[in-house]
Amino acid sequence: MTEKSFLANRTHEVEWSGIRIMFALADEIPGIVNLGIGQPDFDTPAFIRDAAKQALDDGYTRYPPAKGFEDLRYVIAEKLKAENGIVADPDTEIYVAVGAMQVIFNTCLHMLNPGDEVILMDPGYDYYSQIRLFGGVPVPVTTHESNFFKVDPADIQAAISDKTKLMIINTPSNPTGAILDGEILRSIADMAIANDIWVLSDEPYEHILFDGHGHTSIGSLDGMADRTISAFTLSKSYAMTGWRVGYTTAPKVIIDEMEKLMEHMVSGVTAVAQRAALAAISAQQDCVQEMVATYDKRRHLVHEGLNAIGGITCLKPESTFYAFPNISSTGLSSWEFSKYLAKEHKIAVVPGSIFGKAGEGYVRLSFAASMEQLKEGIVRIDRGVEALKLRAT
Ligand SMILES: Cc1ncc(COP(=O)(O)O)c(C=O)c1O
Repeated sequence: MTEKSFLANRTHEVEWSGIRIMFALADEIPGIVNLGIGQPDFDTPAFIRDAAKQALDDGYTRYPPAKGFEDLRYVIAEKLKAENGIVADPDTEIYVAVGAMQVIFNTCLHMLNPGDEVILMDPGYDYYSQIRLFGGVPVPVTTHESNFFKVDPADIQAAISDKTKLMIINTPSNPTGAILDGEILRSIADMAIANDIWVLSDEPYEHILFDGHGHTSIGSLDGMADRTISAFTLSKSYAMTGWRVGYTTAPKVIIDEMEKLMEHMVSGVTAVAQRAALAAISAQQDCVQEMVATYDKRRHLVHEGLNAIGGITCLKPESTFYAFPNISSTGLSSWEFSKYLAKEHKIAVVPGSIFGKAGEGYVRLSFAASMEQLKEGIVRIDRGVEALKLRAT
């Protein structure tokens, strides 16, 4: 009997998040500048916090409806129509979730049978554990720096087999900051339709766009409404990571399953958090624009700062608050480089290989941090890279 033999087999399919492992290491280093964390450094805007405080006094302290408050679902439906071009029935096609993360988890749970293949991007967000937990088989499709990490639809076509059940699309992308435009999404949609594949479209960074870029939701494209599960969240747009509110729109059959399971799982999203979400989505969106303008200033600093370091190159992110510099010239793996920077130069970044095999040779750096932290972080990376060069001579 092994020590853990009492655990169900499926639990072994779940791996500790590589980001957690990196942070555990960073936490032990006093004075470290942490540019690894993928969450806004802003406080949730005051009017949203006030709405939550008011909700407490108004008695929102009881079980909420399993798929979310009706008024919130109606406001979400309006937002989806106005911003995403998605027409969804708030009574049957919208579900309020514990962040986009729960939508991803539920989608894998409801859709995957053992052996079903799931196409996902590499480098890309880490969906591997959720897929494997339900017996799914991840099929990574490599995206290339030379193509600004935008997937080539021909590479998706080549990865499709008769076992492909689902494709996971994440635009804007964590960690690369790449945006998939309408043309690429149309090609992906055509392949999904032709091969009877569902799409999980994970869109947490829909608002964090630069240089006039727009956001297209694949679920809005012709023929996609009945095969797309679109995941959205309040986490990034409104600096609400800790509130744990997101939502999805999907065909009724999926929403029904999510609602049914919610009753058995956690009963619903915390009532007060839902009231805060209602305030956030129904307000003027100035607060979002202000935060994006701040990220944009930081983006320039990070992009220029990194490219000024000899041997490091970094594309200018089109979106999100992540930079994904190429560190391959250091000769270290992305884990070695990240551990080295943390231990010897007190700067935490995330190894690119956490985001898939093709992330090797890169690290992810978050610019959801103050200008001072970013400046200091870049100084430390520079120092680290220069010290490596000296070692090599
Ligand atoms: C691509 C992507 N999907 C999903 C999530 C989870 O977001 P949420 O906080 O809404 O669960 C994140 C968070 O970092 C993300 O980057």
